[in-house]
Amino acid sequence: MHVQHPSGPTPAVRVPIAGLLLAAILIGALAACGGAPSSDRAALLARAAALSPADARLADLYQHACKACHVVATSGAPLTGDRDAWQARLKKGLPALVGNAIGGLNGMPAGGQCVRCTAADYAALIRFMAGEAP
Ligand code: HEC
Repeated sequence: MHVQHPSGPTPAVRVPIAGLLLAAILIGALAACGGAPSSDRAALLARAAALSPADARLADLYQHACKACHVVATSGAPLTGDRDAWQARLKKGLPALVGNAIGGLNGMPAGGQCVRCTAADYAALIRFMAGEAP
């Protein structure tokens, strides 16, 4: 491309054109960000925040422990109700997941900040977060 072409626009004209091009690129990038993938993510986050176990005792345990991270986008935790994320985890088998919930895994603290949870509670909470139980 011949930027210095003699019949091209004068520098005074070229600058606004460059500005317009940059603006168009930025708008394009913003539009891309607002596209399907991030709105899917927003929908997942909204759903995660709204979900709660139907069982009152489980709901209480969940609200006071797991929910602190498993509905937070930046926590690195698989989101409550994000079946795809949980399917990948469930391949390890539920007992392995219960073991990691109790023993901890990277950013997942041992016990998941739940001092009252039994092994059965962890299994039920995991199935709930994975979207496998109401
Ligand atoms: C302080 C934040 C935090 C809390 C509270 C928390 N988690 Fe997690 N959890 C995480 C993070 C981060 C991960 C992802 C860990 C990784 O894979 O590196 C995770 C992953 C998991 C996994 C997947 C483990 C695996 O083997 O893939 C299970 C199961 C789990 N959490 C269960 C629970 C349960 C049940 C509770 C509530 C009792 C809970 N978590 C509370 C942060 C948290």
